Amino acid sequence: MLRKIALTAASALILSTGASLAAGEQHVEDVAFAHEGPFGRFDQFQLQRGLQVFTEVCAGCHGLKYVPLRTLSDEGGPGLPEDQVRAYAADNFSVIDKETGEDRAALPTDNFPANTAAGAPDLSLMAKARAGFHGPYGTGINQLFRGMGGPEYIYSILTGYTGEEKEEFGSTFYENHAFAGGWIAMAPPLSDDQVTYADGHPATVADMAEDVASFLMWAAEPKLMARKDAGFVSVIFLVILSTLLFLTNKRIWAGIKGKKHA
Ligand code: HEC
Repeated sequence: MLRKIALTAASALILSTGASLAAGEQHVEDVAFAHEGPFGRFDQFQLQRGLQVFTEVCAGCHGLKYVPLRTLSDEGGPGLPEDQVRAYAADNFSVIDKETGEDRAALPTDNFPANTAAGAPDLSLMAKARAGFHGPYGTGINQLFRGMGGPEYIYSILTGYTGEEKEEFGSTFYENHAFAGGWIAMAPPLSDDQVTYADGHPATVADMAEDVASFLMWAAEPKLMARKDAGFVSVIFLVILSTLLFLTNKRIWAGIKGKKHA
């Protein structure tokens, strides 16, 4: 019986892996991000590096319009001091003032600006809008430990270029293993040492891709750590409650159960 179950499980696994390989030219790399798993936490320095990559590279084409600039100083996020957030907002972005209708430097109370000039999608929720893991890898306990693969998807897009390009209908498309259909309209945005990290961290394409993917995961789910903490506290609470109920139950029935043996 056990053998039968084991065989069935093994063949189901083989079949499903085979199917997912056959179905996808899309290839999403698994990355071990610091925020994954029930106790995972965002790496604050990685978020700061990711912010730098976003600002210096991605913001040229992509908006981040649902993310308030002031959250950059939130605990659990990049954690910049408030005066740095103020300087960052003013140095990098300008917005149209709602009252005067004029251009002014951005304030921490503004959101990151939208950017639609290049026809690029807004990245605020991208890490949650795309699931990199499908099939058996994208469900159940796997999801708890490895996430849905949203940041992995972003990482894989940024590192998945083959170098091939083609012209079609007057636009250029770039071959990319992670993108559905295999050809994306975004030119490879990263090249080695494109940014110089303030903390001296190496800046290969893979490093920058991982950092910006982690930053975009935080942007899409800034309360991830608080939710994990709340979950952990509830589990502890449930364990204590169950133990107490079990002991109470034993005590209540002790007299009656005890009699049977007597
Ligand atoms: C020169 C402009 C440009 C730059 C710079 C740029 N992108 Fe893009 N990006 C685009 C365009 C255009 C698209 C839409 C591509 C398409 O749909 O084929 C896109 C699409 C994307 C997608 C969405 C793929 C999908 O599933 O729809 C992601 C993720 C992305 N970019 C991330 C980034 C990140 C991260 C950076 C910074 C490292 C960046 N981009 C820099 C132009 C740019």
